[in-house]
Amino acid sequence: MSSRINVAIDGPAGAGKSTVARKVAQQLGYVYIDTGAMYRAVAFAANRAGIPASGAARLAELMKTIEIALEPGPDGQLVRLNGEDITTGIRSREVTLQVSEIASHEAVRVKLVEMQRQLAAMKGIVMDGRDIGTTVLPNAEVKVFLIASVQVRALRRFQELSGIEAVPIEQLEKEIAERDRSDESREISPLTRAQDAVVVDSTELSIDQVVAVILDLCRTKTVEAK
Ligand code: CDP
Ligand code: CDP
Repeated sequence: MSSRINVAIDGPAGAGKSTVARKVAQQLGYVYIDTGAMYRAVAFAANRAGIPASGAARLAELMKTIEIALEPGPDGQLVRLNGEDITTGIRSREVTLQVSEIASHEAVRVKLVEMQRQLAAMKGIVMDGRDIGTTVLPNAEVKVFLIASVQVRALRRFQELSGIEAVPIEQLEKEIAERDRSDESREISPLTRAQDAVVVDSTELSIDQVVAVILDLCRTKTVEAK
């Protein structure tokens, strides 16, 4: 019997989800799927089409015309929108400031959740996002809810932006707290811990320490699955 499992990692912005999810996938020889990148791709497409984040009807139409693909690239995951490589574009501040409202629309979530479930149909997936353990993969064998203080998360973003964009740390802290509020309070699939998720607080842990904790959880489950 296959002992491959699925791993769901959820949590707020800047908790370290994508960094540790990528490493866990590498260690296990699994595929990493960044669902936030898919929501960012929709926000990018909406921006380009001049659709405001509040435009439910136009966003629903947009969802019928766009195709989002994730594929392995030389420096991690490549994101394509109708074939075009938008990997860099989806990380812009403009996208970051709009993505949470875009992600609150039903038409957006229905299509992306369906895509994500298809991608995980073959076991051996590490997927990170906000609703993976609760909605996308409720049967994932390992579920982690990764958290960290707002101050530490803002500091991590500040360090990432160093030399690229000068945004005051207080501003980043405000934006992260606002995105948390918006992700936690939306009606459909809000950011919340699945009952069976293990909470890992990365405030005072290094990336490698978090990876080790998650690999331990995976080891237990793969032994059980054998
Ligand atoms: O990397 P960062 O924490 O900035 O966010 P992300 O994972 O790229 O996700 C961007 C936004 O997409 C989040 O703030 C959520 O609003 C939305 N998202 C979601 O609603 N559900 C997911 N499964 C993943 C992301
Ligand atoms: O995906 P998410 O928004 O949850 O966070 P991330 O983009 O993986 O991590 C944000 C930043 O925090 C990255 O620059 C990581 O290298 C850093 N990080 C850290 O310094 N310590 C950790 N324990 C986890 C992440």
